[in-house]
Amino acid sequence: MIYNSDWMKNDIPDKSINLILADPPYFEVKGDFDFIWNSFDDYLLSVSMWAKECKRVLADNGSLLWWGHAKKIAYSQVIFDKYFNLGNSLVWEKVECQTKAQDYDQARHFAPITERCLFYTNEVEMTGREFIIEEYVAPLNPYSLVMKDNMFKLNISQIEISNLQLSRNGNITGWVHNKLSGVQCPTVEQWELICNLFNITNKYEELKKEYEELRSEYAELRDEYEESRRPFYNTYKLNDVIKHSQESQISSQYDHDTIKPLTLTKKLIQTTTREGDTVLIPFGGSGTDVEACISTKRKYICYEIAKKHYETIKAREKKALLQGELF
Ligand SMILES: C[S@@+](CC[C@H](N)C(=O)[O-])C[C@H]1O[C@@H](n2cnc3c(N)ncnc32)[C@H](O)[C@@H]1O
Repeated sequence: MIYNSDWMKNDIPDKSINLILADPPYFEVKGDFDFIWNSFDDYLLSVSMWAKECKRVLADNGSLLWWGHAKKIAYSQVIFDKYFNLGNSLVWEKVECQTKAQDYDQARHFAPITERCLFYTNEVEMTGREFIIEEYVAPLNPYSLVMKDNMFKLNISQIEISNLQLSRNGNITGWVHNKLSGVQCPTVEQWELICNLFNITNKYEELKKEYEELRSEYAELRDEYEESRRPFYNTYKLNDVIKHSQESQISSQYDHDTIKPLTLTKKLIQTTTREGDTVLIPFGGSGTDVEACISTKRKYICYEIAKKHYETIKAREKKALLQGELF
């Protein structure tokens, strides 16, 4: 979905967006859209409103990527830090950005060849693993300490011991750890020793049955947890300094002043979302993010305030969809 409007005039439901991918005006750097504020303070008022709206629409397990100018991003960071957890302040190093020898000689500062991108997460509520641990693992008693003293007798490892946290009546609530860490049910011999140590009378068969039941219950929980937790797949092995081309051969095809590289955009999307997820693109520009979403099979809601750029995005979308059908 692409709209020719101010993105703040949206009707996006609360917490419905998996990724916000925002390349906003940087303030008086480049492009008409950068020069519409009377002062930097006015600009920061807009940033504050944008941040608040991002908070409203982003899912609890969602991510936010917010581009900015190296010298100015710090001011936006202070605002976004109030709402989200900062994962990284990414640096995009433009690899082919040539600083000429005379620039080094004449400039009275270091040569700027980077842009920044703040990576935020929104995990304020307990989800996934935290929930499982809180619900099932926290109510354990300190029997494990006694177990530790006897670990040699029991002939089981330190890791196993720390996971064998039996409750007082001999049931195996504490075996949750087995599921989470992959530790096995104890052998008959080990169980006999444990029973002797703690005067437990439960039969081994009961333990085994309970263990198997818990195991399948936690297998389901773990699947649920995998689905519900924030996606992050660093298959491109990206660090917080990302060296990447500006890909001017692609950007030169579109009439826009501040185009981001398509391949880098795709990588960021693939790292922080799953296929089928919804990406909010508040500042459409030339449509780089829309094209990246189409080619990586993500849904998108894109806004572009300028009619001219909106038309560019629509044309780019059409082309990308056609290409998708061909391959
Ligand atoms: C930095 S550019 C985005 C460039 C884009 N990443 C690309 O690769 O082409 C920012 C764009 O946001 C648009 N814009 C600015 N304020 C907006 C707003 N409130 N709502 C929607 N679009 C806006 C501008 O017209 C401009 O095209």
